[in-house]
Amino acid sequence: MPPYRAPRGTRDLLPEVRARLSRLESVARSLAARYGYREMEIPLFEQTAVFERGIGEATDVVEKELFRIAPRTEESEAWALRPEATAGVVRAYVQHGLQTLPQPVKLTVVGPMFRYDRPQAGRYRQFWQFDAEAIGDPGPAVDAEIVELGYRFYVEAGLSGVQVLLNSIGDRACRPAYLATLKAYFAEHAAQLPELELRRLDTNPLRLLDSKDPAMTALVAAAPKISDHLCEACSAHFEAVAAHLDAMGVPYRLEPTLVRGLDYYTRTAFEYYRSGAEGQQQALGGGGRYDGLVELLGGRPTPGIGFALGLDRVLLALDETGAEAAHETPPLAVVVGADPADTVARLRVASLLRAEGLFARAELSPRKLGRQLEAASKDHAHFAVIIGDELAEGNVQLKDLEAGTQRVVPLVDLARELARAAKSHHHG
Ligand code: HAM
Repeated sequence: MPPYRAPRGTRDLLPEVRARLSRLESVARSLAARYGYREMEIPLFEQTAVFERGIGEATDVVEKELFRIAPRTEESEAWALRPEATAGVVRAYVQHGLQTLPQPVKLTVVGPMFRYDRPQAGRYRQFWQFDAEAIGDPGPAVDAEIVELGYRFYVEAGLSGVQVLLNSIGDRACRPAYLATLKAYFAEHAAQLPELELRRLDTNPLRLLDSKDPAMTALVAAAPKISDHLCEACSAHFEAVAAHLDAMGVPYRLEPTLVRGLDYYTRTAFEYYRSGAEGQQQALGGGGRYDGLVELLGGRPTPGIGFALGLDRVLLALDETGAEAAHETPPLAVVVGADPADTVARLRVASLLRAEGLFARAELSPRKLGRQLEAASKDHAHFAVIIGDELAEGNVQLKDLEAGTQRVVPLVDLARELARAAKSHHHG
């Protein structure tokens, strides 16, 4: 057993997995850019109050899952690692006066988030999200656009059959009355409620609809539906979102019990699931409208909507479907030498090729030439550059490892020759 291990719930992304995540990140960035979302960064940690106010103190994310950073001195602010990006992005929107820009301001963040969750497959303490936010547009068209953007991400990532679940959770006008109805309903059945849910009944009754406790399934199914209690404005908004999605051909399913786990949501709420896995806890991604959040964090009343897609879960789903092409970048050329001791010449030639933008590795072991060539083939290199006596006249041998051919090339032409060969190799 090694003496040190990565903290529980985290994992090292060894190069192969890192490369797969990088591919998802570039799909995300390219897609966001095409839709007009500009990438930004927010700190990995914020004042704890940003999350407490923004996400809500009675949510699991803040109550149980926040990674609080112990301050070094008593005067320091209380900080926490970001469990999600929305609160930080909105904090930045307010701090930098982005409401003076043309609205909506469309922003994206791609990076790690931290939740002190109970680790299991698909649930980590450090995980990666593709987050997108459109701040300053009351919708409903932008709601549909963002749902479609998230949906398209899965398509472009190569994950087929993703299902969109859609709901409206009302707003300040209609939710209070609905919550009262909901509370009364569950209170009537208090005897059947597990202890955790009984406690939530006071702090956050909406969360009961999202309960994972099997004892709750029947109760939740029979509970009053928010869709039957929406005010006229929320109803009209919801219908318009659905109509836009229909017109865009985005498949979705109405899910009246979908409530989301963060307090800032109003109206549109949505989640992405793998088909057949909608009943499980593990959403591939989710989001919704948060028309009160900017104000809550000190800005002028401003509507907003966004999503975050869990990239780790997409990787897992891709594992299961086996839909991903292997991504390996073998070196184009390995520089080997007839004189095993002359690592200087090998490094210099490799360095020259890299300066020209080529992928080259220098064989630095003091092995015999034959062994060096074997290693180059094992590396799946296309070419070996062999440095021998010809170097005195400014020449090297260029061996095509795949074709088995070999010829003399002047060192000054080597990079150009390789670049040309690489091109014809890729197109050929
Ligand atoms: P969320 O539903 O808390 O929403 O998280 C979004 C996605 O992040 C989840 O659907 C899941 O795929 C992934 N995720 C969450 N927790 C974990 C975990 N412990 N391990 C692995 N993956 C995880 C938000 O974060 C909101 N900020 C979304 C949003 C943006 N709403 C409006 N704008």
